[in-house]
Amino acid sequence: MKAHVFSLATIAMLSATPAALAGSHGDQMSMMSPGLMIPSMNSSEGRKLFASKGCVVCHSINGVGGVDAPMLDAEFMDMPMNPFEFAARMWRGAPAMIEAQEDELGYQIEFTGEELAAIIAFVHDPGEQAKFSESDIPDELKEMMKHMEKEGGHD
Ligand code: HEC
Repeated sequence: MKAHVFSLATIAMLSATPAALAGSHGDQMSMMSPGLMIPSMNSSEGRKLFASKGCVVCHSINGVGGVDAPMLDAEFMDMPMNPFEFAARMWRGAPAMIEAQEDELGYQIEFTGEELAAIIAFVHDPGEQAKFSESDIPDELKEMMKHMEKEGGHD
């Protein structure tokens, strides 16, 4: 019976790893320290989250999105993908970003590790980014962005 539990845990560990490596740049990530588990990096899920979480209000990808913050197209990202570096860069911009989020969205964006992993995958996946369009943006955010354009006058 004990052996059963053991093998289930082993399967869970083994199956987590290939999923984490499924991204298009995954091959560089094949050496992971023991005990380090990377959530699955699903870039098409990330495409939806990038819009629905509101990143798109300030950041653009594929020419779609706000102009108040740095563009997050894959061409500006470090390749090969390093999720830790991405998080570090986001953290560096965090005070300005959180302030802007509270100003413009009225709240601070929150996400789970899984969601962040998907967003990072999307931000590094030019193929998925090419599919990104206005139609990915939820209506209420579209409204907000229109409203901001009118008030903004950035250029
Ligand atoms: C309300 C506006 C706003 C929203 C929404 C927003 N950001 Fe930002 N973000 C910024 C600003 C402004 C900066 C630049 C901060 C700085 O340079 O000090 C930034 C910086 C960043 C950086 C660092 C870029 C670089 O070139 O170093 C990353 C990565 C990032 N944001 C990711 C995200 C993600 C992912 C989301 C959605 C979960 C998001 N941001 C939502 C405004 C926003």
